[in-house]
Amino acid sequence: MCGIVCAVAKVNVVPILLEGLLRLEYRGYDSAGLVVANQNLHRLRTTGRVAELGKLVDEQKAQGLAGIAHTRWATHGAPSERNAHPHFSGEISKIAVVHNGIIENHEVLRRRLQDAGFEFISDTDTEVIAHLIAFNHHQIHDLLEAVCASVAELQGAYAIAVIEEARPERIIVARNGAPLILGLGKEGNYAASDASALLQVTKKMIYLEEGDVAELVCDSYRIFNGLNGKLGKEAIRIVHESNLTAEAIDLGPYTHFMQKEIFEQPDAVANTLEMVFNASSISPRLFGNEAETIFSQTDSILILACGTSYHAGLVARYWLETVAGLPCNVEIASEYRYRDPVANPNTLVVGISQSGETADTLAALNYAKSLGHRHSLAICNVAESALIRQTELRFLTRAGPEIGVASTKAFTTQLATLLLLTVTLAKMRKRLSREREYEMITALRHLPAALQLALQVEPQVKIWAKKFAQKRHALFLGRGVHYPIAMEGALKLKEISYIHAEAYAAGELKHGPLALVDSDIPVVAIAPNDILLEKLKSNLQEVHARGGELYVFADADSLIQQSEGVHIIRLAEHAGLLSPILHTIPLQLLAYHVALQKGTDVDKPRNLAKAVTVE
Ligand code: F6R
Repeated sequence: MCGIVCAVAKVNVVPILLEGLLRLEYRGYDSAGLVVANQNLHRLRTTGRVAELGKLVDEQKAQGLAGIAHTRWATHGAPSERNAHPHFSGEISKIAVVHNGIIENHEVLRRRLQDAGFEFISDTDTEVIAHLIAFNHHQIHDLLEAVCASVAELQGAYAIAVIEEARPERIIVARNGAPLILGLGKEGNYAASDASALLQVTKKMIYLEEGDVAELVCDSYRIFNGLNGKLGKEAIRIVHESNLTAEAIDLGPYTHFMQKEIFEQPDAVANTLEMVFNASSISPRLFGNEAETIFSQTDSILILACGTSYHAGLVARYWLETVAGLPCNVEIASEYRYRDPVANPNTLVVGISQSGETADTLAALNYAKSLGHRHSLAICNVAESALIRQTELRFLTRAGPEIGVASTKAFTTQLATLLLLTVTLAKMRKRLSREREYEMITALRHLPAALQLALQVEPQVKIWAKKFAQKRHALFLGRGVHYPIAMEGALKLKEISYIHAEAYAAGELKHGPLALVDSDIPVVAIAPNDILLEKLKSNLQEVHARGGELYVFADADSLIQQSEGVHIIRLAEHAGLLSPILHTIPLQLLAYHVALQKGTDVDKPRNLAKAVTVE
């Protein structure tokens, strides 16, 4: 969701800005723009893709030694060239601003600035920032100090980059609530929303902290913590060597990142569980040094997450209750943050997020703390994310960068982690014999190979996908721990193929949705050979009897027969607790191949963003 890249270097920075924006395309956007300093501030903007911006650059021969660039995902104001960033302020001493996040007090500031004579051209909250900085610049004269004074007046989340015509050899950046990192290179200094944009020029990165304001020039940088509106003393921040590789963010032999990421799942899960594979018993320390103490006080779990991560939480509830005997609540973060829930200091609050930057999840976690929940755990795929820094305990899923907007390997690694958490808590609560613990470790070790086997159903799924691509609606059914997997299957299908898909707990069918069933609506069922199989089979009969076409993902040992209107793809034999993880794979493949048939933009589905950094 929105991406920033900026560069100040000894060489023309325009190719660096464009390459950086291309690397950030996965975050989702609907317009793009840049400003490059060359005698004056030269601005180019488009409502097309970054490639279109590249064409404008070529046509207008834009070049310069410093510039700021942006991909915008519209929040305030429609996706149009007028609203695309960078935004300008000032006629005589022009400044340009790019911004990620949302400024909540933009209306108040806009009125104040209009009264002071500033004219607004766009509908964005970002233009408020540009004028506010220009206003403060008139009084303070130094851009760095003016930015610092201005951000202190902003409410909401922001990462910004600012450049001025009068001193174009430096860029000022600031962040609070939205990610921004600095890149320190041999030929210049850079900043971007995430590391993937900067790997082209450097691996040396600094993760800015909340309230940081930084000045970048070609051969040096300075950072201040400006939370109180004053620069104060220079702040020291650690320089990290990024361990991201160019291959990790390249497509390699695949056509889409989603396809690559589906097939990376055996490795992603193996990397995530590596510490368990090499151990003979499971240790709470995998979740942090304090985990043993905190887990021993835990009497219930509260999971906060959004979207696919929320579905992972729903699966975990079944595991935590059945295996660890712990009451577990799973809440959609955007709802939880506006309820008045009753806090329990002994509840462990678990935030699950691939990106670790999801605004609702971060806010919900903070809210839970403010209510009196004492202990929190982050399950996240990004080591330097806000979520990881916000909790006492943390577990990093080692899925590698997930570029496709539709989450795949992040989900299965979250599930693997949540199963590990379940087993750890069960062991501490003396609900796991030594033999059962050993069985669980063996099952987890087997998981990558089992995932590899599940991927082999792809040719059969492709045949089904051709039929689904003709449809406008689909129903997904599951029971028990596979109901959230049905929800995840429906979410995957709708987000990348734009087919309307709904998931139901199969037992709910006759309470309403059965009315939808006719020969035109495909009904997908997840039918593992578990204790609910017989119940599910009765539910499927209800569909079949009404002429519904069934597409069943069964286990090798699920006794369900193929017949007229009942299509079956079989996975391996029932995998017990691992079953929901394995049944996810064919559903991801189905969504992917339906989207391919329909020719949609698989990795960048319309209207969606990868990291949802605004509310
Ligand atoms: C769907 C998807 C989203 C995310 C959701 C939360 O494929 O990716 O539903 O799961 O936006 O994102 P994170 O996990 O980054 O908090």
